[in-house]
Amino acid sequence: MSLLVKNGEIITAETRFKGDVLCRDGIIVAVGPDLEVPADAEVIDATGKYVFPGFIDPHVHIYLPFMGTFSKDDYATGSKAALMGGTTTLIEMCCPSRSEDPREAIQLWKSKAAGISSCDYTFHMGITRFGEGTADALRAIVVEEGISSFKVFLAYKGAFGIEDTELYQTLSLAKELGVVVTAHCENADLVSETQKKLVAEGKTGPEWHEPSRPVTVEAEGCHHLMTFAELTGAEVYVVHTSCIPAVEAITAARKRGVKVFIETVAPYLTLDSSYAEQPDFEGAKYVMSPPIRSKEHQDFLWKCLADGTVDTVGTDHAPFDFATQKHMGHPDAGKCVDASLKPTGKAGNFTLIPNGIPSVEERVKLLYTEGVCRGRIDLQTFVRVASTRAAEIFGLYPKKGTIAVGSDADLVIWDPEWKGKISVTTHSMATDYSAFEGREVLGRAELVTVRGKIMVRDGEWTGDNGWGNFLSRKPNI
Ligand code: URP
Ligand code: ZN
Ligand code: ZN
Repeated sequence: MSLLVKNGEIITAETRFKGDVLCRDGIIVAVGPDLEVPADAEVIDATGKYVFPGFIDPHVHIYLPFMGTFSKDDYATGSKAALMGGTTTLIEMCCPSRSEDPREAIQLWKSKAAGISSCDYTFHMGITRFGEGTADALRAIVVEEGISSFKVFLAYKGAFGIEDTELYQTLSLAKELGVVVTAHCENADLVSETQKKLVAEGKTGPEWHEPSRPVTVEAEGCHHLMTFAELTGAEVYVVHTSCIPAVEAITAARKRGVKVFIETVAPYLTLDSSYAEQPDFEGAKYVMSPPIRSKEHQDFLWKCLADGTVDTVGTDHAPFDFATQKHMGHPDAGKCVDASLKPTGKAGNFTLIPNGIPSVEERVKLLYTEGVCRGRIDLQTFVRVASTRAAEIFGLYPKKGTIAVGSDADLVIWDPEWKGKISVTTHSMATDYSAFEGREVLGRAELVTVRGKIMVRDGEWTGDNGWGNFLSRKPNI
């Protein structure tokens, strides 16, 4: 059976034109005007609609043991939510603890998705320790497990964070293997000292999360990574870049010849620091790291998307429930706010709020509403930053990230006339709150295909758990 999408406006990062897309056996087999209708084809009329390549989220957490708890989605809910929002490929961070064997970790993360994910997926391999045997394990993961990107954390001291010697060894190995290293850039020591100081001063609410990780701390992390990348020659990708000084540190390195890509994430473009300042612990919903910044940083990031300085927009989807998990940092947490929390006898504070914002479902519509509809970016930039660049950087292009003969038939038919509101009552993510509750959005993914199979039709779920494939990738050598 084939699928023919007729009369839509096809938008890729390079072109836009009215035409048809014919898909057979999961692949795009023809693109052009007035394609003939094959006898076996299901025909979708896309008149008045945009036809986008499936969107790619290059930074999600689905299975994440973190800050004494586990992220809320699994692949059934996370991949469904992604598809409902138009995202057809997820790149998840595999985040082992320092004591976990990397080969066992990648098997564990793969097992969480296999047979359950409805969208296609792959992983960045997190390196949280570089010791004896790590280089051999990582070589095997690249060659045998089809992984061509690593992840390091310069933040999270005592948890995922690595030391400088480990960073040097990771980047040197990545250079040798042709693997891109994604990095969370914040100076871990500065964060931990500032946190201690603020808590000692009685500044314990969620509104103190941002001051504990100011823009200078992020910029230092970026500059730090740039120095190591410059010395080793490794290709690096800075995840969730939130502010002007961080982008400046990175672009200065680009001028010195460092090969570096920049990601920002949907929450930084659409929320600002006032959200984390809301009373009655509401601000905890908006605690993520680096923190949500003030409006001037947000405006700057939009400009950087428009001019190509920032390469990609991900989500850093890291879903934690408000009532239970975010409340681990509530002043009354020690008295057991919720039956599922262990009473510690100690008052909570912002350093105990699990970091992260659920957003995998909302990224594309937020980017469209706040970016395209407000004239901050054009349609082709929208496709480039939400799909094509991630495919190019992470070895998925042209299988993913474009609409071309031979590419996977991952399509999003977008209704630009649709108007609606975001709400926890209608979202597919597993969390008990939406960080974008009540937000008006324009446009939606009306029909979504993964390798030719219709997963969303008329904005309703029609997909299958388990349809998603692991995407094996090769290093760039
Ligand atoms: O707050 C965040 N970003 N949570 C998820 C873990 C990470 O740093 O990516
Ligand atoms: Zn991070
Ligand atoms: Zn992350």
